[in-house]
Amino acid sequence: MGKTILVTGGAGFIGNCFCKLLLKERPDWKVVNVDCLTYAANPATIKEELKNPNYVFYKTDIRDRNGINAVFEKERPDTVVNFAAESHVDRSIENPGIFLETNILGTQVLLDACRKYGIGRFHQVGTDEVYGDLPLDRPDLFFHEDTPIKTSSPYSTSKAAADLLALAYHRTYGLPVTVSRCSNNYGPYQFPEKLIPLMINNATHDKPLPVYGKGLNVRDWLYVEDHCRGILAVLEKGRVGEVYNLGGHNEKSNIEIVKIILKELGKPESLITFVADRKGHDQRYAIDPSKAMADLGWAPTTMFRDGIKLTVSWYRENTRWLDDCTSGEYRNYYDKMYGKRSDK
Ligand code: NAD
Ligand code: DAU
Repeated sequence: MGKTILVTGGAGFIGNCFCKLLLKERPDWKVVNVDCLTYAANPATIKEELKNPNYVFYKTDIRDRNGINAVFEKERPDTVVNFAAESHVDRSIENPGIFLETNILGTQVLLDACRKYGIGRFHQVGTDEVYGDLPLDRPDLFFHEDTPIKTSSPYSTSKAAADLLALAYHRTYGLPVTVSRCSNNYGPYQFPEKLIPLMINNATHDKPLPVYGKGLNVRDWLYVEDHCRGILAVLEKGRVGEVYNLGGHNEKSNIEIVKIILKELGKPESLITFVADRKGHDQRYAIDPSKAMADLGWAPTTMFRDGIKLTVSWYRENTRWLDDCTSGEYRNYYDKMYGKRSDK
């Protein structure tokens, strides 16, 4: 058996994709998924992985020190990749506390366990949102690894703190830490609170598509498997103490994205509804991935025009998965979040 890799948040959108990639392409590794299954995790997501003898799942909260230590005691991982997080900006604006607890204190629990039990690598999955935003009228500007941290939302602030804490454990205690910071991901299994799956779900049901503000904010979209391959490249070729930006130079405004989805689904643009803007809404994200490309030999392989087709068809074919996510609590969330954003 090769490495034992502990993946936190492996029942979520990106963490699950990463587990799938490892089970497929590193068949001698043991994959240990630690996830407490918040609202963002649909248990059906990991149904196939649970059948794999190289995969084990612990329903454990990363804030639970005793629980995490017990997993380390039993599994003795060589590598930890921390995906577990509260990940939705809008929720962080409504309720910042849980973001600080999970994203900062949960990361600290993991870092302490790595120190206690010893580790070959701790990788922190970070976000480009830690760099704040770029103006819409300066397409020449990009986020580099040394761009100052300047966060806008409670979410991005908690993620920045987690990155810095991980790097501090490297500097202070010599823990072998790496950090990656990625742009917006899209693909199968993304919870339908995020732009792309929310719009696919609403359009499928002929419901209005709530576009914040004028829909001109720009995001830099990367297919989820490309992100996961980037993280694997950091684990295998990256240098400890370093930060790597991952992104695909695929900038699109939100309104462009929504129109592409409508076209793909054959639905009318009359479904688009402009609603009140997000508070503190970041204008533009744009990653410069040249360090990861040069040092790791990593590059995205899925073009957006192909990735978005794959994504739309996955949601069309997996209505049961989507229904599981959108029944029950999701309706309260949706009414609370969107009820107050009256049409503009
Ligand atoms: P997600 O919300 O889909 O999944 C998060 C997972 O973490 C869920 O399975 C949830 O149950 C689990 N989790 C949450 N709190 C936990 C806790 N206290 N203990 C154990 N498990 C817990 O998120 P995602 O989109 O897959 O993002 C994964 C990571 O990647 C996050 O750290 C996020 O900040 C980062 N990231 C996301 C994007 C993106 O576009 N989605 C881009 C860059 C970075
Ligand atoms: O950049 C990486 C980040 O991307 C990750 O760190 C976050 O975890 C992830 O959620 C994502 O953050 P965003 O805030 O960019 O993603 P979201 O899908 O929430 O929104 C994308 C854009 O679409 C943003 O400009 C807000 C807008 N939007 C979003 C929703 C949910 C709408 O116009 N309407 C909506 O209903």
